[in-house]
Amino acid sequence: MNKVKINKWRTFVIYFQVNSSRLYLVSILIYLCIQKITYVVIDKVNQSIKEIENFQFTTLEEVEKFRLKFLSRKGLVSQYFDEFKQLSGEEKRNVGKLMNQFKNLAESKFAELDESSGDSAVGQSGSELSDLTLPVNLGQVGSIHPLSIVRQRITEIFARMGFTTSEGPEIESDWYNFSALNFPENHPAREMQDTFYVSKGEKVEDDILLRTHTSNVQTRLMEHNKPPLRSIMIGRVYRNEAISARAHCQFHQVEGIYIDKNVSFRDLKDTLYHFAKEMFDKDTEIRLRPSYFPFTEPSAEIDISCFICKGDGCNICKHSGWVEIAGSGMVDPNVLINVGIDPEEYTGFAFGMGIERITMLKYGINDLRLFFDNDVRFLNQFVGA
Ligand code: PHE
Repeated sequence: MNKVKINKWRTFVIYFQVNSSRLYLVSILIYLCIQKITYVVIDKVNQSIKEIENFQFTTLEEVEKFRLKFLSRKGLVSQYFDEFKQLSGEEKRNVGKLMNQFKNLAESKFAELDESSGDSAVGQSGSELSDLTLPVNLGQVGSIHPLSIVRQRITEIFARMGFTTSEGPEIESDWYNFSALNFPENHPAREMQDTFYVSKGEKVEDDILLRTHTSNVQTRLMEHNKPPLRSIMIGRVYRNEAISARAHCQFHQVEGIYIDKNVSFRDLKDTLYHFAKEMFDKDTEIRLRPSYFPFTEPSAEIDISCFICKGDGCNICKHSGWVEIAGSGMVDPNVLINVGIDPEEYTGFAFGMGIERITMLKYGINDLRLFFDNDVRFLNQFVGA
């Protein structure tokens, strides 16, 4: 029994001696590792501090690189702080101060760079330090839409003849678009302007529609103002037409009205004659052809002499020597009565034309759809026009 006991005791002692020395070794190893990590961290942080202190920049991209390297989510500041978290309490106390110094330095340096990049020429050009002798880069310059160019030109020509510019709604009641303009209910004249209806009212006048011409603005102008009136109305109009090279369901019109005492057909002719010469060519002639509109009496279509072939005949004028540009006439007395103007005291003329048509003639454009495609190959051709 005794012998056995002695053996067990010895075995325990030997076991303890062997394992405790192992434990000791392991502890030393762990200690060394932590020491190593600490030194590595300190070393790296010191190196980065030096890098920050010496950092110079010449481009904005370099400032951004600085931010990414040190201050972004995966940057060195957060990376070193992750390593720092693995240190023991005592080690943390030793390295903590250095870590904070590093972080503050990175942040203050970035703030400084950011501010000076905003002030300097570098910040503004966003590239190399500026060479002020280099040509200016103006970037991509767009162009004014051909319809806007022509619209502007038309406005200028009429403004010089004393016409103001008026605007009105595109969604309109039947009254302002048709009824007040002497279109009787169910009259075939309404068929000339195939209409998009928005809603039906109790009476025809209350129907809501997309205006088919800008004459609705003429009605509104006459209803709310006393003559003399001299104004043009420019805007988008809508008709239920199949889209093709020559027709569209939306287009732009310029209409005009002049109401005063003693306004005659001669004034109408002279005004449009002057317009045609200014818009196209000083040799342009005009021709009036009898026509019908419910709101004018007498009415006339206005043709201009073809300024491309000078009357010899070409594709544009379909070999007639003349191109139609507008409808016109003396304002029908019924219209004046509808808007509260006395036709015994006042007379006036009105005209209307499509801006697309004028633009197509002026620039030789052969497809109406090009105006609405927004194709830059088409639009670029009007740079500087
Ligand atoms: N409103 C007519 C149209 O759109 C044009 C026009 C205006 C005709 C004024 C005569 C007088 O067709």
